[in-house]
Amino acid sequence: MRFIQVGVGGFGGMWVSALKNNRQAKVVGMVDLNPQAMQQVCDNNDYDPSICFPTLKQALQNVEADAVVVVTPPAYHRAPVVEALGAGLHVISEKPMAESMADCKAMFSAARKAKRHYVVSQNYRYADEMYTMADLIKKGRIGEIGQVKIDFYKGVGFDGFRAEMPYPLLVDMSIHHFDLIRFITGLDAVSVRGQAWNPTWSHFKGDCSSSICFTMANDARVLYNGSWCAKGDYCDWNGNWQIEGSKGTIRYEKGVITLDQVPEGYRTRKSTVIPPRKLRRTGQDYVLANFMKSIRKGERPLTDVYDNIYSVAMVFGAVKAVKGERRVSIIDPALQKLIGDFSG
Ligand SMILES: NC(=O)c1ccc[n+]([C@@H]2O[C@H](COP(=O)([O-])OP(=O)(O)OC[C@H]3O[C@@H](n4cnc5c(N)ncnc54)[C@H](O)[C@@H]3O)[C@@H](O)[C@H]2O)c1
Repeated sequence: MRFIQVGVGGFGGMWVSALKNNRQAKVVGMVDLNPQAMQQVCDNNDYDPSICFPTLKQALQNVEADAVVVVTPPAYHRAPVVEALGAGLHVISEKPMAESMADCKAMFSAARKAKRHYVVSQNYRYADEMYTMADLIKKGRIGEIGQVKIDFYKGVGFDGFRAEMPYPLLVDMSIHHFDLIRFITGLDAVSVRGQAWNPTWSHFKGDCSSSICFTMANDARVLYNGSWCAKGDYCDWNGNWQIEGSKGTIRYEKGVITLDQVPEGYRTRKSTVIPPRKLRRTGQDYVLANFMKSIRKGERPLTDVYDNIYSVAMVFGAVKAVKGERRVSIIDPALQKLIGDFSG
């Protein structure tokens, strides 16, 4: 299958490797605003500089391709995705689908109109540990899910587009965790409440800390707390998880999955560390292989736009919630008067 990759700098390097490592994929075009980024990829991978173009339009005019991979910053996903779909090509883009819900809706409609596959790469799903947790829940090991807590505290020194976004954690990072919530629990979210803030020491312009509560389709609640300016080494990129069901709890912390069996009452009867099941492929390699297989077999790929719209809607639902947060004063005027009268 012949690919054009749009955006080859930064995380684009992961996709350069994924495409190079898959024997059924061939890179026939590269597009980036930065010619040096393309030159570097050519030098390191023996690609001919004649496959480099400043715009997707020029690439489409000059090379024959079957699919496009888009790895630009989120605000620049919509244009190349819609253009590629319009040209009759299948598309993979990096997460999040876009930086606004309006862009996501336009991309959804473009995919439906073009009748081409558009996959959003949610590579966090395709990791041994996350797959194993989803499997345990699917097999009913903890019964019906009632409450979930995820704590993601990681200090990252990102500059570039993330430092400028209004909600860098929610939009660029939490999409992974929100998509994992759906993947692991098998439940979709129906409503959301939340708060976002920016600690004094944060180098981000936008709010990089959040506390979000989702109500899921079965009325379970998922409490998600996260920060991108955390001090110290609290968790890995998946965050720490506590998933409670009617028969027990699954916990995840820094690569270790623990299953606490609590068939009745509240005391753990047995606690077991569960070894993660080894996947043959992970991350972008998994996404790419699944995408190509789906096209070959005429099947629906995983995390296509029709699935991913439910994850990205959690992101923009959370953004709406934190903007409209209703605050209740702890000390209301009547209580203030009482305290004041008493202490005075
Ligand atoms: N899945 C993951 O684990 C993961 C990790 C990091 C980044 N990402 C995602 O990858 C995407 C890119 O992030 P990044 O960190 O590589 O960003 P970046 O800013 O480091 O690099 C983006 C590249 O795209 C190029 N570019 C920018 N606008 C362009 C345009 N309009 N046309 C062509 N090229 C353009 C830039 O020159 C640069 O080479 C984002 O959607 C981000 O969320 C995913």
